Amino acid sequence: MQAGRDDMAIEIKGLHKSFGSNHVLRGFDFQVQPGENVAVLGKSGSGKSVLIKCIIGLIQIDKGELNVLGRSVPELTRKEMDLVRRDVGFLFQGAALYDSMSVRENLEFPLRRHRDQASRGRSMQQRVEEALENVGLLHTINLMPSELSGGMKKRIALARTLILEPKIILYDEPTGGLDPITGREISYLIKEVQERYKAAAVVITHDLPCAKITSDRIVILSQGKNYIEGTYDELERSSDAVVQEFFKIL
Ligand SMILES: Nc1ncnc2c1ncn2[C@@H]1O[C@H](COP(=O)(O)OP(=O)(O)OP(=O)(O)O)[C@@H](O)[C@H]1O
Ligand SMILES: [Mg+2]
Repeated sequence: MQAGRDDMAIEIKGLHKSFGSNHVLRGFDFQVQPGENVAVLGKSGSGKSVLIKCIIGLIQIDKGELNVLGRSVPELTRKEMDLVRRDVGFLFQGAALYDSMSVRENLEFPLRRHRDQASRGRSMQQRVEEALENVGLLHTINLMPSELSGGMKKRIALARTLILEPKIILYDEPTGGLDPITGREISYLIKEVQERYKAAAVVITHDLPCAKITSDRIVILSQGKNYIEGTYDELERSSDAVVQEFFKIL
């Protein structure tokens, strides 16, 4: 059954965003159903991070419709947007941890910020431990970020995003800066947590194997538009030159 308009996790129509004469998004359309995992594939500089920042309200859009969990983002006050952000996890490009805080403190941070320490009978301590267990890193709880590898930092950053049990998770280049094997491990971890949490996900990437593992559907962002979309297999068979550019590097 097709979900109704109000049930959509994300709904974007005709989104435009320019910086001066740089017209980055030029009528981008995009829909994500609850629980659906969509990858947005695009070259460097195509506007993928700008798109995510628009969704989370960090960048103001110029024109178009932008609804997140049934709320029109451009019309929200700062306070209302903060409430929406409570349900939208964001794994930043680079996924930086706070270097001066231990792993435990990094995970406690979003809970304290949203005054959400206890949930369904679980203490903050239990939630932190559970989140770390979900990414297989409970043993790092008392370590500092400087003592972790790049892949471990990504996992901890993912745990920190998941700890608020968001309805939507936005991943910006989750495998960026990692070697292909660690990148694949992170991709499978994302797939696993997506299945467990049943959140909707937007995975921004130029890593095709990551898109294949993590997503039900792929949208290619090119020339500021949702250039084409389909499953991995559909796009792989496409003879379109823009699409093939992503596949021929494999
Ligand atoms: N705050 C900003 N002010 C001015 N220009 C910006 C700003 N943010 C992004 N841009 C411009 O928007 C364009 C798209 O940038 P964006 O960061 O979205 O690319 P991307 O697709 O995420 O690339 P990458 O794969 O390298 O991360 C670039 O030309 C960039 O210079
Ligand atoms: Mg980017």
